Amino acid sequence: MPFENLFEEVKNSYDIVEVISSYVRLKRVGKNFVGFCPFHSEKIPSFVVSPEKQIFKCFGCGAAGDVVTFYAKIKALSFKEALLELAEKAGIQVDKKFFIEKKKEKNLAELNYKIAKFYHHLLYFHSSSEDAKKYLEERGLSEETIKTFLLGFAPNDGRVLAGYLRNSSEDLTKGEELGLIKRTSDGSYIDLFRGRIIFPIFNLKGECVGFGARALDKEIEPKYLNTPESKLFKKSEILYGLYQAKEFIKKKNLGILVEGYFDFLSLWEKGIKNVVATCGTALTENHVKLIKAFTENWVIFYDGDLAGKKAALRAISLFLKEGILPKCITISEEEDPDSWVRKQKLEGENLENKIEELIVDAISFVINFYKEDYVLNPSKAFKEIMEVFKSTKDPLLRNRIAREISFHLGVPENEILKWFIKDLYREEIPEEIKGKDKEDIPGLRSIAQFLVNYPEYYFDLEASGLSKLLEFYLDTLYGKFLKYLIEEFKKGKSEADYIPDMEFQEILSDLLLDPPFENKEEALNHIKTYIRKELAKKEIRKVTENLKLLQIKGPKEEIEKYLWILKSSITGKLLKETKN
Ligand code: UTP
Ligand code: MN
Repeated sequence: MPFENLFEEVKNSYDIVEVISSYVRLKRVGKNFVGFCPFHSEKIPSFVVSPEKQIFKCFGCGAAGDVVTFYAKIKALSFKEALLELAEKAGIQVDKKFFIEKKKEKNLAELNYKIAKFYHHLLYFHSSSEDAKKYLEERGLSEETIKTFLLGFAPNDGRVLAGYLRNSSEDLTKGEELGLIKRTSDGSYIDLFRGRIIFPIFNLKGECVGFGARALDKEIEPKYLNTPESKLFKKSEILYGLYQAKEFIKKKNLGILVEGYFDFLSLWEKGIKNVVATCGTALTENHVKLIKAFTENWVIFYDGDLAGKKAALRAISLFLKEGILPKCITISEEEDPDSWVRKQKLEGENLENKIEELIVDAISFVINFYKEDYVLNPSKAFKEIMEVFKSTKDPLLRNRIAREISFHLGVPENEILKWFIKDLYREEIPEEIKGKDKEDIPGLRSIAQFLVNYPEYYFDLEASGLSKLLEFYLDTLYGKFLKYLIEEFKKGKSEADYIPDMEFQEILSDLLLDPPFENKEEALNHIKTYIRKELAKKEIRKVTENLKLLQIKGPKEEIEKYLWILKSSITGKLLKETKN
């Protein structure tokens, strides 16, 4: 069966209310069911399930989707994995080839786990493990923490893992595939990790996807080594400790982000368990998307030195891009979170309070970072400050940032707001902005909402130039979504139910569960006018831009020619319009 049909079949095999009921207590309210959202902590239930539409939506955190999306989210699976698991459970026959890739990754993760346990075992039982144990003790880690994170030891002798895997030729091949052993020129195998402390790294499902490894000897470079990148181990998507910390992050409704394994472990050791760490790479957009599912309240706790502060500035930009204004902690230059925590000699609530004292909001952090520069060269420093903030898409957040920067620096708010508009074509953010739909152009959202409710009007909107308008917005969520929708309609689909990916599925459900338009005709006219106006605005802007360019470098006759064309086209348009 093709993948597309599988999706349909899976949806038909389940009742979303029944599936969700085994995770959330639902209460019937009118046509729908309501409960506490399982994806964020809340005091008033705002999680709605519609049996009629077979979708769910949380009006608090914005999570939305169908039965597959729900299952994927609650079990931390990808869309495809969720689909296959649900199909399997429902007894739907699925083409074997869908499973092969997945199974292979699972096998590799299983071997990783076996290896993690092996290294952990060596920490306690290898003849040369005394130094490693002492090292961990000196760094303040208890046996309990060592066990929770399955920390291990790779001896100096580089053939320990190879020897262990040699018992099974399959494991030997897989070990090589994982990059943990390497075949040498004489045909024997040598271990990747030698003389190192081993940190197994788990994904959200608790599978062991790779390792970090710290040299025990100060002289050895690099200080940290990771499992090589692969389909299973993607540093840009993995966070150390998230699997163990996620419940604490959810419960506290607050997460602390650090940069090192030991920073993470030291905080955990002292009872601060709502922490995650990147693994030997800078924070990425994927990371933020991943962690924002657990809470939108994040504190960046990086090294106190210049490099740490600069990394924090980059992290702030990434959070802002995802609609989150994070907070920051500053410690003195020679400290990192690990050394700072151990110096405090505090734990639990007392340590928490001490940390709380150091937290500042990201805006003050940035301003403070550029404080001295600002005195010396205000315009340059201001530009650099705005570089950090300009990734913000959420208009409400932009206003808040503008207000606060204006307060700190005395620069007028609208001067600051101008900076958010990198791209000339992105200038207009009209209409009111509702709840969660921050990162996109609200006009487009309304169009999408209209089209999913009334697909039969797609021709009308096309005739008004919808596709042309979308060309300007293909890198936005709703732009992409609308383009996809239109393509489906063109293929003759009247309903938008086969949407192949989780993000689109979420948008679709979100749109379907929003209250429908009060007056369809009025909404249609509104949208048509909006499209035409926007297109006209873009045209005018293009013309003005061209003129500006010509004025700067064009020859005189060309300017005149252009003005002439412009004049005749405007008069032409006016004539046409007066005729209509
Ligand atoms: P740091 O150099 O700040 O190390 O790197 P650290 O965490 O303080 O390490 P300790 O306390 O000396 O053990 C921060 C993080 O950057 C990555 C690691 O993930 C480390 O935890 N890193 C560092 C590497 O990947 N490779 C390196 O060579 C160094
Ligand atoms: Mn350190």
